[in-house]
Amino acid sequence: MKSKSEFVCNECGNITSKWFGKCPACGTWNSIEEQVIVSNNEPAFSKGTITKRTHAESLSKKIDSISYDDSERIKTGMNEFDRVLGGGIVEGSVTLLSGEPGVGKSTLLLQVCGLLGDSCKLLYVTGEESPSQIKLRAKRLGVNSENILIYSETDVDEIISEADIVSPSVLVIDSIQTLTDDNSSTAPGSVTQVRNAATKLIRLAKSGGMSVIIVGHVNKDGGIAGPKILEHMVDTVLYFDGEKQYSYRTLRAVKNRFGSTNEIGMFEMDSEGLCEVDNPSEYLLSQRHINASGSCTFCVMEGTRPILAEIQALVTKTTYPVPKRSATGFDYNRLSLLSAVLEKRLGINLSASDIFLNIVGGLRVDEPSSDLAACLAIVSSFRDIVIEDKLIAIGEIGLAGECRAVGNVEQRVREAVRLGFTKIVIPMKNYERSKSKIEQLKGKAEIIPVRSLFDCLKLFGNNNG
Ligand code: TYD
Ligand code: MG
Repeated sequence: MKSKSEFVCNECGNITSKWFGKCPACGTWNSIEEQVIVSNNEPAFSKGTITKRTHAESLSKKIDSISYDDSERIKTGMNEFDRVLGGGIVEGSVTLLSGEPGVGKSTLLLQVCGLLGDSCKLLYVTGEESPSQIKLRAKRLGVNSENILIYSETDVDEIISEADIVSPSVLVIDSIQTLTDDNSSTAPGSVTQVRNAATKLIRLAKSGGMSVIIVGHVNKDGGIAGPKILEHMVDTVLYFDGEKQYSYRTLRAVKNRFGSTNEIGMFEMDSEGLCEVDNPSEYLLSQRHINASGSCTFCVMEGTRPILAEIQALVTKTTYPVPKRSATGFDYNRLSLLSAVLEKRLGINLSASDIFLNIVGGLRVDEPSSDLAACLAIVSSFRDIVIEDKLIAIGEIGLAGECRAVGNVEQRVREAVRLGFTKIVIPMKNYERSKSKIEQLKGKAEIIPVRSLFDCLKLFGNNNG
């Protein structure tokens, strides 16, 4: 037996042969840690152990001859959770649920266990809370089933032997950062520990057929604390997100070997735990302040779902030499770009104004289809004109001030009609492309196609700054 060392970065997993104060790959300071590799001089595949096979003995299979069973998914009954996973928990899969501390990961999983408890056996391993703390929480959440076993342990080998005895359908590990592996001497939560523990759990899932859900805390910059490497090892990575000030939470798949990564699930945290939000648009628009300037409604696609939300702008005279731009839930650079377009193409002088832009309800938007609504909200606040509350604006704004087509316009228009919007502004290109389908909706709402931002502002009377 011979041991040697390698140096692993806690942030990006980069391996170097000597220690650095700053990771040469990702540039993080003080993130490199020594890891001892134990190897017994023999190569992993020594030539002697592999016997030569003939062509007829080939072990690879033709893709069309491989059997599969798509029904092997455990439906939790929590629709938002199932949807994000692509239809339920796949048997024998490993899922990583990540999120900031306190966002509600343990609550979510305990509730999932509560729902699954009717039909299958579950083992909930906790390294953070005592069984009585879990019980207290379960009581509050109304979770009570004899099929849910709680085990307080941090040693990964102990956990695996317990899982072997109990053989649950789903094993929950809360959280990976608390696990320890006897074979490595580093502290819990370090790269080595996390990687070794995860490898063992993945092996358990693949051999024993049980599904494993691992909780992983993320650090401030959104990386899954230390062990970014975990993402490559597991089948599915879910990210549970929400602004601390709001009760609204989103669950999205960052990686999914068994489904799409576009879907998002929405929840609201209240005193009885997380409630599913079946109708996010209604929820997000429920607190609208009608008849105030600087507010406009828009529609984004989250996966296959159109979601309506409100965008608010506040434009005020600046007291700084350089005007302030601030965006919450909206891309900051996009805001700068849109204000530049408004200045240059429409002659609206924003250079002496601070602009604050906010997507209401804690939603984060990274789709350009909200551009038009953002511009309208800014102009509305700047000129103090109220935009009708039954108007919705959909469209991307180009650098020339043109209004560009967006995807899934029909679905968006339908959702707007469903929620009672009567004036729907859409890009002219979209209107021309799907004229026949959109005209069917004409009786219910007025569809207003626009070619440019200039066209759109004409709707509100004057158009010069
Ligand atoms: P928790 O699930 O412990 O977060 P995590 O496991 O991601 O660290 O959630 C903790 C927060 O959720 C806590 O700040 C209180 C809040 N909460 C409620 O508002 N209602 C509830 O019913 C529960 C159980 C928690
Ligand atoms: Mg927790």
